[in-house]
Amino acid sequence: MASNREMRQTIVQLLSNVSDGNEIRTYLRRFSEVDKSRFAVIKIGGAILRDRLEETAASLAFLHEVGLTPIVLHGGGPQLDVHLAMSEIESEKIDGLRVTTPKVLDAARAVFTAQNIELVEAIRKQGVDAHGLTQGAFDARYIDQEKYGFVGEPTDVHLDLIRSIVDSGAIPILTCLGVAPGGQLVNMNADAATRQLVHSVQPMKIIFLVDSGGLLDQGGHVIDSINLASDYEELMAQNWVHSGMRLKLNEIKRLLDDSSPMTSVSITTPSALARELFTHTGAGTMVRKGEVIHRYSEWSQVDQRRLAELIEAAFGKTLVAGWHGQLSLLSAYVSDTYRAAAVVAEMDGFSYLDKFAIHETARGEGFARTVWDHMIRDSPKLFWRSRSDNSFNAFYEKEADGLMRTGQWTVFWKGEHDFDRIAMAMKIMTDLPPSFEEDLT
Ligand code: ARG
Repeated sequence: MASNREMRQTIVQLLSNVSDGNEIRTYLRRFSEVDKSRFAVIKIGGAILRDRLEETAASLAFLHEVGLTPIVLHGGGPQLDVHLAMSEIESEKIDGLRVTTPKVLDAARAVFTAQNIELVEAIRKQGVDAHGLTQGAFDARYIDQEKYGFVGEPTDVHLDLIRSIVDSGAIPILTCLGVAPGGQLVNMNADAATRQLVHSVQPMKIIFLVDSGGLLDQGGHVIDSINLASDYEELMAQNWVHSGMRLKLNEIKRLLDDSSPMTSVSITTPSALARELFTHTGAGTMVRKGEVIHRYSEWSQVDQRRLAELIEAAFGKTLVAGWHGQLSLLSAYVSDTYRAAAVVAEMDGFSYLDKFAIHETARGEGFARTVWDHMIRDSPKLFWRSRSDNSFNAFYEKEADGLMRTGQWTVFWKGEHDFDRIAMAMKIMTDLPPSFEEDLT
C-alpha cells in the first residue's frame, strides 16, 4: 500500500497535471477568506467509510495540510443494518426514519462510535489531527417518541465546541447522534443533521462524498453542474429524473436556500475532492443557487455598459467604438449580475456567436455550461470564431461539430451539415473586422 507521503504526493501531482498553479492559488485564497471554521461541511455516507476509508482520510489530511479545516459529519447506516441483523435486533422504518428502541439506540451508539474512531484514526495515520465528537455536538428534540422512539430532530449545534476543535488544529468528526433535553441520547436522520450543521456553520462549500462521483444524467454520466435558478424546474420535469435523484435535488435545494448565494454544493468521490475544489472544471457535480439567465432580442433591453464591461474584463481588451451597433442582434444571453453573457447575431442568414464572456469571478460556477445550453437550445445551428489564445478553445473543440483554422482564426460550427453553407459561413466569419482595439492593425 502507498505510504501517506506518497498518497499526498499523488494528490499534488494530480492537481498540477490538470491545472496551473494559478487556479489552485485562486481557490485556496477564496476558501481561506472566510472564518477558518466556515470553509466546508463534508458529509460522508457509511458506504464510503466502509469502502474508501484510506482515500477519504488522505483527502481530508490534504485539505488540512493546505490550511483548510473541514467539519465532517458521517453516517453509518449500512454498518448499523449489518450489526442489527447479526445481533437479531428487530428494527423497522416509518416514513424513512428508523424506529429506535433502547436496543437499537445502544447498537447505533456502538456502531457510530466505532465508525467515528476508525475515521479519526485513519486521519491521524496521515499525520493530521482529528477529533471525534460522537455526541454532544447536536441538541435535539423528540420527533414523536411514541411513534419513533429515541429519534430526534436537531435543534441546535454547539458551534463553540466545533470551533475550538478547529482552532486547536484538528478536524472535527461528527456523528448523527444528538442529545435531547435531560441528556437523553437520540438517533438523528443524516439529512436533518446535515441541514442543521449547514444552517449553523454557514460554510462556503457543502460537500457530499459519494461512490457515484456526482449526480448522474440519463446516460449514467456525471452532470457537471446545476444552476438551480435556471435548471431546477426543468430538471424536475424530466422523466429520467427518478425519485432518488428528486429527493437529493430537493435536499440540496433546501440546503442552498438556507445559505448565502456564494455557497455551493459539490458531490464527488474522496479521491476527486482536491480536483473538484481547486480547479475551474472540477471533478464531480457542482450545484449552486445560481442566477437566472435572461434572453434579450433587442439591444434596448440590454444594459450595454455592463455588457461591455463584462466583455472587456473577460477578454482583457477594449471593444472598438460602436461594436454592438454593427451587429444585428438575434439573442443576447445575460446572467442576472452580468457575470456571464453570450451574444448571437444574425449574419447573412447564419447565426453567429459574436461574444461568449464569463467573468473571472464566475469561472468554475458552471455558468459557461448554463449560458451555452440556453443558447444552443435557441440556435441549434451556430457558427463562431476564436483566436488561438482564447481560453475557451478546449471547451469549443468539445462542443463544436467541426472546426477549421485559417490564419489567426479558428472557425467552429455546430448543427450545420451542409458543406456549401459551411464554406459560405467560413468566408463570412473570417472576413469580419476585429471587435477589439488591440486587434486592429
Ligand atoms: N473549484 C470550484 C469549486 O469547488 C469549481 C468546481 C467546479 N465543479 C464542477 N463540477 N463543475 O467551487
